[in-house]
Amino acid sequence: MACFFRRSVALQLSKVVGVSEDALIPLISAVPVSKKHVCDLRTTSDLRVSVNSLLQRGAVPPDGDLQTQTQALANQIKRDAVVEEVVAGRGVIHFRLNRLILAQKLLEQLHSEPDGFGVKSDLLRHLQGGRTLVEFSSPNIAKKFHAGHLRSTIIGNFIANLKKALGKDVIRVNYLGDWGMQFGLLGAGFERFGSQEKLKTRPLEHLFEVYVQVNREVESDESVRSAAAEFYRRLVQREDQALELWRQFREITVDEYKRIYQRLGVDFDHYSGESFHDGQTQNVLEELKTKRLLKTTEKGTGVVDLSAMGDMSSYATLVRSDGTSLYITRDIAAALDRKQRFGFDEMIYVTDKSQSVHFQQLFHILSAMGHEWAERCHHVAFGLVQGMSTRRGEVVFLEDVLEEARSRMINNMRQSRTSKVLEEPELTAERVGISALIIQDFKGPLISDYKFDWDKVLQSQGDTGVFLQYTHARLCSLLRRHASESYSCRDVSPLTDSRSVSVLQHLLRYDEVLLQSANDLQPRHLVNFLMTLSHLVASAHRELPVKGSPAAAAQARLCLFSAVRSVLANGMRILGITPVDKM
Ligand code: ARG
Repeated sequence: MACFFRRSVALQLSKVVGVSEDALIPLISAVPVSKKHVCDLRTTSDLRVSVNSLLQRGAVPPDGDLQTQTQALANQIKRDAVVEEVVAGRGVIHFRLNRLILAQKLLEQLHSEPDGFGVKSDLLRHLQGGRTLVEFSSPNIAKKFHAGHLRSTIIGNFIANLKKALGKDVIRVNYLGDWGMQFGLLGAGFERFGSQEKLKTRPLEHLFEVYVQVNREVESDESVRSAAAEFYRRLVQREDQALELWRQFREITVDEYKRIYQRLGVDFDHYSGESFHDGQTQNVLEELKTKRLLKTTEKGTGVVDLSAMGDMSSYATLVRSDGTSLYITRDIAAALDRKQRFGFDEMIYVTDKSQSVHFQQLFHILSAMGHEWAERCHHVAFGLVQGMSTRRGEVVFLEDVLEEARSRMINNMRQSRTSKVLEEPELTAERVGISALIIQDFKGPLISDYKFDWDKVLQSQGDTGVFLQYTHARLCSLLRRHASESYSCRDVSPLTDSRSVSVLQHLLRYDEVLLQSANDLQPRHLVNFLMTLSHLVASAHRELPVKGSPAAAAQARLCLFSAVRSVLANGMRILGITPVDKM
């Protein structure tokens, strides 16, 4: 409903400046909440720049300073039932809305269609429709699931959730590292010291053990190296026995991951992987040759020149001298295959920043091949996390992180005096623990590195995921306590006190915040919004009792609290957090 107010302001403004309402809407923004509560909306940036037809039309005096010009413009804007006051600043015009209408419109909409709030705004309409493929998580079979994979998992999930909420058709792809020479090693290693028994009981651990051991032995034992080369050759030639063992590794790994991702609240539409595209690389190379993009070097490798001048000052290697393909070759094949299969409009890859050059090269080659859609492929890069460890030491398995978050959270909850008696304390602790991890990770710019510290992550005070969950649970408990009293939002006139107004003003920003996050794919805008909302509602909760207040005030307050709860829950879900009702 924020768009109702933006439109009302745009309507009055458009009469003066002669620019269409639709063009003005994106230039009107909610004023960040302050104690003064003077105005609710304002024009963005310098009005002279954004509405440059003004001067031409003589709507404002050509001379005079910015303040005078803005004032002259503001004077011409009509007040109406919704826009009560117009205040000129230096190049910015502020608008004060009728507070009763503000409360009424916002809360009405939040109650009739809580899940559509914000996401259906005019501001976001241009983002609707089309298909987005998000590739994320993408761990490597038998190798560590490190903090980078965890970040990719939660960031990719956030991006997919956001796009979906804004009305895109979203395809979630996990691109496993399930091919390459290391599978020669793994296969040969498994044939020497693997155990089918252990593979069934602790699959990920066992594969990792075998992988570590075979890597150690290959250093000193030449026969291991040749056994690995032999196993890989059998794999590439699709020899039954080797392929069967590889398939087993893959299947077991995917099944395990599915189970663990479910705990995290993440799922995928497709588990693809490098193995699917190795067979397609030959075609890719042929096409590159036909297009005269692939050159053979003296060493016998196949390369693509990426330099601007055509002097090979930068290039990518696509074929080794023995004819085998590389990581990037498979990525080119995978991109072409996905385009054909899914017909995406945009594709997003989520990995740590060490792969930025790889993705630049990938997009460069796709575009040199004549695929204009390469422009709509993006790499969302993130920084490194230092010091994420569990009782077992450095993070090797995703499940260890979840266990650690859960057990630490259980401890914290036991020590807290406000904790409730829960039916499923373990599940709640896990959900809260995971939210804490997510918020910690999403607070800053994704590209920044950060130091991980469990105690800081799991604090209940300050801007943490625990605080968000706690706020949500408190609102749920308030609403539960009053569940028997049916309340309506018909009369919201008691909500004109400063606490209520702050909350309402803040809700006006939700769609803008979603837009910001959709534009730069950074979750921090949404995180900050939800944190501020939680702080505002905490003080509203303190100052605006429901119990013991006159019926009209009590009803209006319940209406407000229930609206805030649904916005909080929706925002949390977009971030990938499952809100808890009790904690
Ligand atoms: N498996 C890779 C790794 O762990 C990440 C894959 C990223 N995606 C891609 N299309 N290359 O580093």
